[in-house]
Amino acid sequence: MIFVGEQRMHNKSLPLLWFLLGYTLREPSLYFLRSMLGLSGNACSCRRCIIHLDDEDDSWFMERFNQSFHPLMSRKSSMLSDDTYRWWQWLQAEKSPSNLTIVLDRLFQLIPAEERYVDANPDRCRTCSVVGNSGNLRESRYGSYIDSSDFVIRMNQAPTQGFEKDVGYKTTHHLMYPESAIDLDNSTRLILIPFKTLDLEWIISALTTGDISKTYVPVKSRIKANKDKVLIYNPGFLKYVYDSWLEGHGRYPSTGFLSLMFAVHICDEVKVFGFGADQDGNWHHYWEDNMLRGAFRHTGVHDGDYEYNITLLLADKHKITLYRGG
Ligand code: C5P
Repeated sequence: MIFVGEQRMHNKSLPLLWFLLGYTLREPSLYFLRSMLGLSGNACSCRRCIIHLDDEDDSWFMERFNQSFHPLMSRKSSMLSDDTYRWWQWLQAEKSPSNLTIVLDRLFQLIPAEERYVDANPDRCRTCSVVGNSGNLRESRYGSYIDSSDFVIRMNQAPTQGFEKDVGYKTTHHLMYPESAIDLDNSTRLILIPFKTLDLEWIISALTTGDISKTYVPVKSRIKANKDKVLIYNPGFLKYVYDSWLEGHGRYPSTGFLSLMFAVHICDEVKVFGFGADQDGNWHHYWEDNMLRGAFRHTGVHDGDYEYNITLLLADKHKITLYRGG
């Protein structure tokens, strides 16, 4: 059995290792070698893993999935290529951004700077529930099933209080950006998705002085969250999701799709809840009584149909399990 001891490896060796591992896993003529090495079957200790070594039908997934991109920024991985930086700045057309290196330097003095979740190995079985905000969660009674995963990943304005039977109590990770921020409890990890340099300045401010109260709309000037549990979604990963998985559809991926890709890259088994429009194509929320008619799905910022089709394909190919609600 090959043990991929990532944490003990030098950072620069990782892309080469993943390339070699990926090749060994995919190349049909190496099946015999894989069996000899005890690499046939699962790449983790769950019943079925996202990376399934013997899957003949895996080419669609493997053409898109690239383990060398990591969803989170650390101090070491905070350099963006010129290409990524230009694309990222274009997303919300930020005018006169602050110097990114200086902002990141300040940020990583405030929040943890080390790499996380680079601990994949054949003995690990990390189960994750990704909970989108769809109204299809109503009356679903998924709550305790959602909570049974190791990680429960929620996003944006999602409340649990009052909806526990359907959505659960537990939140280990909550993804948000300044304009969608809510307060969190002390044990939840906040994952900021930055769409511009100001978003990184906002999280510094929201955890300290409260100076920033406006981006392109008014935002929360302070946020309740444990600063030792704040993580930053990597703009380089965001671009990879857009290029490789969405093939350029929409202006940029939705929070839900970014959360799903986060899970696909750091979990061994992924269950997905709360994704899907209503019968009229509206992106309604489970906590709203008045259906949100025509929300962003029709604005062209995100390509909801394309994202949902990729989600269905991931489910068809047994990479995730999709629960479509009550
Ligand atoms: O509306 P909001 O962006 O907060 O929802 C979070 C995510 O949940 C979306 O980005 C989308 O991926 C998913 N969603 C969905 N169907 C809905 C509402 C939300 O798939 N009706």
